[in-house]
Amino acid sequence: MSNQEQTFIAVKPDGVQRGLVGNIISRFENRGFKLVAMKLTQPGQAHLEKHYEDLNTKPFFAGLIKYMNSGPVCAMVWEGKDAVKTGRTILGATNPLASAPGTIRGDFALDMGRNVCHGSDSVENAKKEIALWFKPEELTQWNHHSAAWVFE
Ligand code: CDP
Ligand code: MG
Repeated sequence: MSNQEQTFIAVKPDGVQRGLVGNIISRFENRGFKLVAMKLTQPGQAHLEKHYEDLNTKPFFAGLIKYMNSGPVCAMVWEGKDAVKTGRTILGATNPLASAPGTIRGDFALDMGRNVCHGSDSVENAKKEIALWFKPEELTQWNHHSAAWVFE
């Protein structure tokens, strides 16, 4: 398991509107993950359709794209041990009603179509999503000063 695994995490437009960006960033910082890239962006419909292309036959697809395109998204790359799976655990289940308290969705959401955040579901998809949302030069390279206190 790599300490340098990266995942793509986004605060969706409802999370930005509701002022949850700072809280969500804090959860990843507090856990020991390193922020590699971040931007507030409105990438537009074509980009969002590409991001969710695996879901384009689902009945909720059009509504999902409209929701994602309704305001800015805070796009981030976080790095650390088991970042993809642990990132999903921090987010909670897709349906907020099934999300445990203490997760982002379990603390802040009720509806599947307003579930506040996105996280990559596999290392392979994380690589694709990071490449879709960030140019290579936007991905920083730095050593976290706490690394030795986070990793054995
Ligand atoms: O975001 P996550 O990976 O947990 O779930 P997904 O299955 O990849 O679905 C992507 C997003 O579509 C969800 O986060 C929801 O915002 C939305 N969705 C929905 O509105 N209705 C569903 N039945 C399933 C997903
Ligand atoms: Mg997904």
